[in-house]
Amino acid sequence: MYPNMLAPSAPAGVREQVVILDFGGQYTQLIARRVRECHVFCEILPYDTPLPALKSRQPKGIILSGGPASVYEPNAPRVDPELFTLGIPILGICYGQQLMAYLLGGEVQPSQEREYGRTLLTVVQSEPLFTGLDYHLTCWMSHGDMVLQPPPGFEVLAETENTPVAAMGDRRRHLYGVQFHPEVAHTPFGMNLLRNFLYGVCGCSPSWTPANFVQETIEAIRRQVGQEKVLCAVSGGVDSCTVAALVQRAVGEQLTCIFVDHGLLRKGEAEQVRELFTRHFPSHLIFVDARERFLQRLKGVVDPEQKRRIIGEEFVRIFEEHADELGECRFLAQGTLYPDVIESGTRLAAKIKTHHNVGGLPEWMRMELLEPLRYLFKDEVRAVATELGLPPSIVWRQPFPGPGLAVRVLGEITGEKLEIVREADAILNEELERSGWSRRVWQAFAVLPDVRSVGVMGDQRTYHYPIVLRVVHSEDAMTAEPAELPWDLLLRIANRIVNEVPGVNRVLYDLSSKPPATIEWE
Ligand code: XMP
Repeated sequence: MYPNMLAPSAPAGVREQVVILDFGGQYTQLIARRVRECHVFCEILPYDTPLPALKSRQPKGIILSGGPASVYEPNAPRVDPELFTLGIPILGICYGQQLMAYLLGGEVQPSQEREYGRTLLTVVQSEPLFTGLDYHLTCWMSHGDMVLQPPPGFEVLAETENTPVAAMGDRRRHLYGVQFHPEVAHTPFGMNLLRNFLYGVCGCSPSWTPANFVQETIEAIRRQVGQEKVLCAVSGGVDSCTVAALVQRAVGEQLTCIFVDHGLLRKGEAEQVRELFTRHFPSHLIFVDARERFLQRLKGVVDPEQKRRIIGEEFVRIFEEHADELGECRFLAQGTLYPDVIESGTRLAAKIKTHHNVGGLPEWMRMELLEPLRYLFKDEVRAVATELGLPPSIVWRQPFPGPGLAVRVLGEITGEKLEIVREADAILNEELERSGWSRRVWQAFAVLPDVRSVGVMGDQRTYHYPIVLRVVHSEDAMTAEPAELPWDLLLRIANRIVNEVPGVNRVLYDLSSKPPATIEWE
């Protein structure tokens, strides 16, 4: 662990925040995104965050997330009931509501069966959660247990045919609960309800805006950096360019950018980034050709996590060599985002992959990290990038993983395999661009599995690789759906790949969602 990974609390300068206590619910991140969409800063913390730590953040409100447990299970996640006496407004969602009811003396009905899907809701009492809304609404339910009787002091705010306490509230203590999920799109009035809670009950103001973020972050970077030098690792993607632009505005000449060509980039990418950078950034750019070095280090490595660790380490080694050259460069700035932090394993979220810019950094690293985007979701970064005046070609660039094609060539990486996946990827993206699909999808790329199969070409037997095409829609990379590309477009792409890329005799289309798959294959 690095000291900076443990750094608590909101980005410096953010005064107003809401805390979401996570009980392991599948929608917890979605709640956070929705609160941010209401222009209120929020942070997800584990459900057992000690009360003093919670109070020190001075949250304007607390949201208790859903979760898979039942309050009656012996090891069910609980909060200290003192939480409800702090005078901070609280909204419990699903499990959060059941827990609130259980701990405050209400009656929760254990159930073996789940109520799932769209449900008609009748509002009994409008104020304050349903202010301005109809009396009959559609909401999304997904729960096993439910509240039968609200605790003393609470009144029922809404009901459904099968759920007598679909929403409850104690206006005197500012405690509220809903059985349904206001954060999902299937609850069309969900955002109204959240706004009613955030603005009406908690008294938050919609001040989490890109303009405020830029201003506060620039000031925070100035305070943190002082007169020291900063090295900023850039990849040409929106995250690192946004970081570079923020640091540039904050400390100008103290910034040097570094771009490492690790040989795992897409076709023509190194040249494009160099060109783009020269055009849009006044900072000095160090361009490092480390293709041979990375290939050597990755020789014989097949395990995805090992690949990520090696790449992360090698990056840092190169950064530190250049930091030494620059003379006493104290900070390394990089574009780590909130989902990277979450997916590299917070205490509750299981570790899925070591993102090379989070868990992949070695302990021996000397430079201190400067990560001004570590609390932002991707769409928030794009809004900040737009605010900073970065060109659309950067703002809307597809995400590309730090370990690059290393996690798209499955198994051992060789120069030949990299060339195959690079060419196939170029064809795929060229065709998507030509047909107008590029901007409609989140990511589109080619993957080279570590298998070969028999084919026939010009009367000759072939024993070649297949290429897998992965084209997905996503809002924030936490979940994803395969894109429904037109059949003729898919056939054209497949045809071009087998004809133009030597060593490929089949093309497959990946139909998996995330979850259960991930977007990248490794
Ligand atoms: P997965 O494969 O976990 O990817 O569904 C989610 C998003 O993150 C990108 N990704 C990475 N980005 N360093 C990064 O900067 C990494 O190590 C990394 N691994 C995955 C991926 O392309 C997708 O957009």
